[in-house]
Amino acid sequence: MINIAVVGTGSWGKNLVRNFASADGAALYVVCDRDAKRLKALSEAYPQAKAVPDIGDVLSDRAVNAVVIATDAKFHFEHAKAALEAGKHVYVEKPMCQTADEARRLTALAAKCGRKLMVGHLLLYHPAVARLKTMVDSGELGEIYYMYTQRLNLGVVRSNENAWWSLAPHDISVINYLFGAFPAKVSAQGQCYLQKGIEDVVFATLHFGDGRLAQVHTSWLDPHKMRRMTIVGSQKMVTFDDMEPAEKVKVYDKGAVANLTYRSYGEAITLRQGDIHIPKIDTTEPLRLECRHFVESIANDTTPLSDAENGLDVVRVLEAGGRSIAAGGSPEEV
Ligand SMILES: NC(=O)c1ccc[n+]([C@@H]2O[C@H](COP(=O)([O-])OP(=O)(O)OC[C@H]3O[C@@H](n4cnc5c(N)ncnc54)[C@H](O)[C@@H]3O)[C@@H](O)[C@H]2O)c1
Repeated sequence: MINIAVVGTGSWGKNLVRNFASADGAALYVVCDRDAKRLKALSEAYPQAKAVPDIGDVLSDRAVNAVVIATDAKFHFEHAKAALEAGKHVYVEKPMCQTADEARRLTALAAKCGRKLMVGHLLLYHPAVARLKTMVDSGELGEIYYMYTQRLNLGVVRSNENAWWSLAPHDISVINYLFGAFPAKVSAQGQCYLQKGIEDVVFATLHFGDGRLAQVHTSWLDPHKMRRMTIVGSQKMVTFDDMEPAEKVKVYDKGAVANLTYRSYGEAITLRQGDIHIPKIDTTEPLRLECRHFVESIANDTTPLSDAENGLDVVRVLEAGGRSIAAGGSPEEV
């Protein structure tokens, strides 16, 4: 049994508590939150777990094997570092931390301590993304030209990070994963409407060295609740709409082929309008799969899919995007 402590049990952390409480091979051993009301409610719901207000009590408890950190992003570095130094395995929510330098230091520390460090890039555990990855890698979509993502809603408006840092880690992790590559440059533009210095909406473009592009639109100031990705390949195109209850992935047998031997303008491009296929996708909650993956990576001593390097890669793109926003949209090397 791996004894888990969850630190930070707010609107997201409580989902981690629920999933670790029922994860095979793990025991929810401690819940920790400095908010006394939250802590009381959780200790009533999970009487098997100790409830403590201070992370120091978690780290000094020798029975705790792994610490799950879902505090505000500004504490991720400090909490993850302290937990690794205390000899615990660590799962830290996205974004891994707030600078690439911090991410590098955590990555090195985890390696030095011989402990797992996994980042909460939830979508990498989504069965729909696993399906997209299979389609991309098998060549079913043909050559991948470009993709774009939309992560929009009205709220949750945060005051400690902008929409890019809050929402884009999910999209960046999936783009890097599906492309099997790391962007060379990022150009991004954002605007602050509700709070000074905190962008509510960001349009970012990730430029890959081989010409592939990915566009990421993030906003908490939008009338639509959208969680959508579109991938355009030379053979097929595919959408993943996470707001759809059942038909999340749609594969469009559509394409366009340039005809090099055309005689008239109308023959230059041949468009193919084929069928739309809706594959059956496993409906297991992605967070359940993610929590299970963390426990298994400790139990089996395997490297998590969203390991520290993966977290660092995402933070580097976030940081380059931040520099580009500050520079008015100029392409910034990652
Ligand atoms: N993976 C996802 O899909 C997803 C979704 C939402 C949020 N998140 C991430 O989860 C993290 C938390 O977000 P949230 O929306 O739950 O925020 P929140 O403000 O609702 O919760 C944060 C909790 O941490 C507690 N906390 C803060 N500092 C603490 C400390 N030093 N010791 C003990 N407790 C402390 C607060 O009291 C609060 O209860 C963020 O990093 C966010 O980016 C991830």
